[in-house]
Amino acid sequence: MNLLRKLVLPLFAVIFYSSGVSGRNVANYQVIPLPQEIVQNQQPEFTLNKKTRIVYTPGNELLKKNAEFLAEYIKSTVGLKLKVQAGKENANSIILSTGLNSQNKEAYTITVSKENGIRISGASEAGTFYGVQTIRKSLPSCACTSVAFPAGSINDQPRFSYRGMMLDVCRHFMTVEEVKTFIDMMALHNQNMLHWHLTEDQGWRIEIKKYPRLTEIGSVRSETVIGHNSGKYDGVPHKGFYTQEQIRDVVAYAQQRYITIIPEIDMPGHMVAALTAYPNLGCTGGPYEVRKTWGVAEDVLCLGKESTFEFVEGVLSEVLELFPSKFIHIGGDEAPRVRWAACPQCQARIKAEGLQAKDGHSAEDRLQSYFTTRVEKYLNGKGRRLIGWDEILEGGLAPDATVMSWRGVKGGIKAAQQNHDVVMSPNSHAYFDHYQSKDTKNEPDAIGGFLPVDVVYSYEPVPEELTADQKKHVLGAQANIWTEYIPNFKQVQYMAMPRVAAMSEVQWTQPEKKNYERFLTRLPRLIDIYEALNYNYAKHLFNVPTMAPANK
Ligand code: ACM
Ligand code: ZN
Repeated sequence: MNLLRKLVLPLFAVIFYSSGVSGRNVANYQVIPLPQEIVQNQQPEFTLNKKTRIVYTPGNELLKKNAEFLAEYIKSTVGLKLKVQAGKENANSIILSTGLNSQNKEAYTITVSKENGIRISGASEAGTFYGVQTIRKSLPSCACTSVAFPAGSINDQPRFSYRGMMLDVCRHFMTVEEVKTFIDMMALHNQNMLHWHLTEDQGWRIEIKKYPRLTEIGSVRSETVIGHNSGKYDGVPHKGFYTQEQIRDVVAYAQQRYITIIPEIDMPGHMVAALTAYPNLGCTGGPYEVRKTWGVAEDVLCLGKESTFEFVEGVLSEVLELFPSKFIHIGGDEAPRVRWAACPQCQARIKAEGLQAKDGHSAEDRLQSYFTTRVEKYLNGKGRRLIGWDEILEGGLAPDATVMSWRGVKGGIKAAQQNHDVVMSPNSHAYFDHYQSKDTKNEPDAIGGFLPVDVVYSYEPVPEELTADQKKHVLGAQANIWTEYIPNFKQVQYMAMPRVAAMSEVQWTQPEKKNYERFLTRLPRLIDIYEALNYNYAKHLFNVPTMAPANK
């Protein structure tokens, strides 16, 4: 019995033990996120043992990879090293296939019986992968020679096609290995969209060959403010970026786990690192300095100069080469208007384009909308779709834009009412940089707020006020990890888990199946996996003293 189990024993009853009363090791299909349908029957169970084979459809390399993942998970959870093979199943097999007929390509079914083994059938290889995740999470945590799988079936598919996490690697850089671990964490929670926030005022983190100074200059800040813009600095340079080769490697790693990486190039605001590298991109021409403090900067891209658009397209053309994602995130948040209001070139653009203040939006609001629409046209021309934070609504939404609603849900509602797709990521329920406890003195410093697991769990992404047709525009939900106050990856994990477990049921499970009390009963077995993988997670739910992550 591990430490956590001892600690939570008084809190959670014995039913959470995966071993039955007889001391046998029994799989439990009550996993997180909860499958839509689990039916157990009284037929003889399937016994997994060292002779069990994991069998995939011959010639299907993706299924082979899924089979290898399952072998790896079983090895790390129960210690059994199973053989993976193409075809030649017998009754002691776990069989992976893609035979399921479903409109939802992420759907899967699992059937378990003594005569036919465990059959995981996906509507695509992605569906099979989620079936593999469910089997993996059903395993008891033990060093055991056999595991009994109760006979029955599981029918499952995600509620939403967009199940995201955002990771900010700009305020604090995370290594390739750490980003890969983040991807593994997402796969464990059946998430499929990694929104990778790659550019910021405080650091530009993606190599762009046409503009080498973006990383030579823009990826380094000389030091970082201590705490909440205290005026005191740590005196330590902070730097880091990903080469294009590293990015290709991370994209491929995510793809194997059915995760799409959506890159974010945040513009026209949050661009001070780029302005420092190329001061002509700004209205004043600088000089600029990669920011050492947090908050919103007044210096943004100059939208009057044609050269700004050449730069944006130059950057995006390389981004598109690296990321196959249909969605490309262009940020759009927190772009103050002061520089544009005072800039002769921006004002000339406003005049030339006939951008006028109306309906509560200034001419400068319309200037941002002009910019977004032009970028969207470029992306659409390359077969991609633009997604941006809800500020892109101001001054008029670009024709095909998808809106990520972060300042509450209002932006998402407004966009869906205009028949635009939306992803819900409200700061009320999805900002994992907020505190998890009211006892903030005993927590690592956070940006503020209070977002405990139950509040995340309670989130319903589809607003009531939308019509049935408008509701279809809600593609899903996303949680965001901004890292101003998160100096290292251990702390990213601490802020993510177990809140991401709650978010995963928001994203995957139909609302009528959700139940917070039962979620809590399922959680300890997921926590066992966190422990086995050496993930650093928050323990507030278990009434144990908070263990704040150590600094690097
Ligand atoms: C944001 O939190 N600025 C999107
Ligand atoms: Zn300007």
